[in-house]
Amino acid sequence: MNPDQPPICDYEGSDYQTSFWDTADRAYEDQVEAIALKRLLPKSGNFLLEIGAGAGRNTPRYQAYQRIVLLDYSTTQLQQAQSRLGNSERYIYVAADAYQLPFLQGVFDGASMIRTLHHMAEPQKALEQVRQVLQPGASFILEYANKQNLKAILRYMLQMQSWSPFTFEAVEFTTLNFDFHPKSIRSWLGTTGFDVERQLTVSHFRINLLKRLFPLDLLVKLDSLAQLTGDWWQLSPSVFVLSQAAGETPTAPPGALFRCLECGHAELEQLDNSLRCSSCDHHWGYENGIYDFRLK
Ligand SMILES: C[S@@+](CC[C@H](N)C(=O)[O-])C[C@H]1O[C@@H](n2cnc3c(N)ncnc32)[C@H](O)[C@@H]1O
Repeated sequence: MNPDQPPICDYEGSDYQTSFWDTADRAYEDQVEAIALKRLLPKSGNFLLEIGAGAGRNTPRYQAYQRIVLLDYSTTQLQQAQSRLGNSERYIYVAADAYQLPFLQGVFDGASMIRTLHHMAEPQKALEQVRQVLQPGASFILEYANKQNLKAILRYMLQMQSWSPFTFEAVEFTTLNFDFHPKSIRSWLGTTGFDVERQLTVSHFRINLLKRLFPLDLLVKLDSLAQLTGDWWQLSPSVFVLSQAAGETPTAPPGALFRCLECGHAELEQLDNSLRCSSCDHHWGYENGIYDFRLK
């Protein structure tokens, strides 16, 4: 890791997909996220950047896009995504830091970042990077963990929690896990060059007792309805925001993708086990279908 960059919540070797999703009771969370994504995704798109793609849980939901770059800092997460999705022209697997994206300006016409911003100690820095690699008018779907959720409000009022859910600073509830205030997120999106178009509040009934008492289908239907209030108020633990890349910024030439993180040069030659920068001669790793742009 680069000491000048913000710290990274490293999932290398983690069994996150199995332990958090596949074997835990999270069908409700997964299904309501699928509904939110369906509502926010454009009808068609060319090239999507999925930041913090993990094991590719959401990737099959991006059918509208012709090609997808799955970016994650962890190579083991990307390997799991490869096993799920396979190797094809449609998917490009890239190990890199969201704070230092190895792409040219204006490459993508879409980006998503789901359950990943909550690991960012410097969210604005990450959002700036996303905006850089998007074409003007591109869609960006961002999910964030909302500090101003009903449970936090209740706990605060009952004096069971010291931090206020109403103030704008982020709360780090455990190391490198942050909840954000909706106003801060909207403000950061604005200052980094995005126009917010739509907000959906998601996972309103993420409470174990409710999940035990009521059938899954009912909770999913109720959440699906409640999501539609997202532009008016945000009191759920998770919020999905659709934004558009604003302003006139450069668009990359067709077919161009990577830039060298050492010198910024755009011409990288594909070799058997690396990408070689023709300007500074740096070799970026390429192994078993995964490009490696992590700065060590
Ligand atoms: C909670 S998982 C979410 C995975 C997936 N988006 C999902 O919803 O199933 C967060 C992912 O973000 C990745 N991540 C965290 N910090 C990162 C960073 N600075 N750069 C790239 N990926 C990062 C982790 O490796 C992990 O795979």
